[in-house]
Amino acid sequence: MFDADLDAAARRFLAADVASFTTPGHGRNPEVADAFLALDLPLATGVDDLRETQGILPQAETRAAAAWGADRCRFVLNGSTQGNQAMVLGATRPGDTVIVSRTVHKSLFAALVLGGLQPVFVRPELDPATGLPGGMAPERVAAALAGAPAATAVILTEPSYVGVLSDVAAIARLCHDRGVPLLVDGAWGAHLGFHPGLPAHALAQGADAVVVSTHKTLPAFTQSALLLTRDGLLDARRMADAFELLHTTSPAAAIYASIDRARALMEEHGRCLLDRTLAQASRLRAALDAIDDVKLITPDAPGVAALDSTKVVICLDGAGADGFAVEADLVAAGVHLEMADRSLLLPLLHVGVSDRWLDRLLAVLGPSIERHRGTPRAPRTSVAFTAAPESAMAPRDAFFAAHERVPAARAAGRVAAETVTPYPPGIPALAPGEVITAEVIAALQRERAEGSKIAYCSDPSLATLVVVSH
Ligand SMILES: Cc1ncc(COP(=O)(O)O)c(C=O)c1O
Repeated sequence: MFDADLDAAARRFLAADVASFTTPGHGRNPEVADAFLALDLPLATGVDDLRETQGILPQAETRAAAAWGADRCRFVLNGSTQGNQAMVLGATRPGDTVIVSRTVHKSLFAALVLGGLQPVFVRPELDPATGLPGGMAPERVAAALAGAPAATAVILTEPSYVGVLSDVAAIARLCHDRGVPLLVDGAWGAHLGFHPGLPAHALAQGADAVVVSTHKTLPAFTQSALLLTRDGLLDARRMADAFELLHTTSPAAAIYASIDRARALMEEHGRCLLDRTLAQASRLRAALDAIDDVKLITPDAPGVAALDSTKVVICLDGAGADGFAVEADLVAAGVHLEMADRSLLLPLLHVGVSDRWLDRLLAVLGPSIERHRGTPRAPRTSVAFTAAPESAMAPRDAFFAAHERVPAARAAGRVAAETVTPYPPGIPALAPGEVITAEVIAALQRERAEGSKIAYCSDPSLATLVVVSH
């Protein structure tokens, strides 16, 4: 079915009668491993040997590099999280200044800690119609580069969580004029490049490195991702070292094989699959257009060079409906969304969505929004998208400094020692080194009271926050 050697090797290994005196500890012996565990097989001593053998894993990575137009590719097993961190560690050195979009995922804030980097944050302008972040205007990156002449990398998220692409080509040119690599978290854009109706992915637009989550929009196992790089401004040896630094020594061959299958599937049938996804997105948009006061992000939002038109983020503030109430109706009908908060709903149109599922979503969505319609609210999105805290310390210094826990009511003015993140989308409202303000605390508390999860901090109730000791 698939031209994917890793997949074939995994099947051969599973079909063989092997007395497994190796990890994993179940050995796929039916006495202890049911069907659930039977697919768990190691790469080393199983499907292939580790990378040093130059076996089938590097070949699969080379095929993926070619499919995405990269010079190199590594298969990542701990998500775009690990891919992002390897990308940043491979391109920078401790103490470097880097230009970073403030709306990056928490994995990149962690990369700042791991790498001992000093961020200069840039922010996309907000779209007044939806309250969502638009694209990153190249002028903002140019100004940041001019203000930080020693910067050694620019780090952006393209496409953004809400499906917006900035003018990546222009930003890449700005970076390259200064000899600085453009590093891109493309976690949500693994499907870009496989259909002419979709915008080019960041690597094709000139970025030097891109990380994509093959498990988000493509049909690969959860946790799978790709680190795709171009030689030139990046040192391939350092990138490989950074990757190995963070990589497990017990890779799961099933995850690897699923990446190789997803690559093969997209090369062979991606256009056809994405024809369907794009048609589904059009149907969903048309249905939403017919509902008064529901807003979607449009190409004329600030800084937007292109939209990933498979991404449909539904803004409910104008209709006054509570997104959590609509989500509850959908869940009752067996429909699960990628994200919901009071203002937004995000049904992710990945390549696995069937038309039957879309019918089910559409049957409930419109009537539910009408049922929960209320007083219109001004567009207001998560503090994750709007936070603009002042940086007081390098993230790494704040992370490792002496800490104390203080009541939230006394935290304003203190320097955060932890990340506080409404989830999804996983963009921190507060990160180590940033000055906590009363406004940020109030916004986080309001979102929590409305039903949003506050994640990755030590006290999700937000009664207390961990701050750098005086
Ligand atoms: C923009 C962005 N980057 C990176 C990640 C991390 O991806 P993963 O879950 O594959 O580690 C996420 C997760 O949602 C994300 O939204």
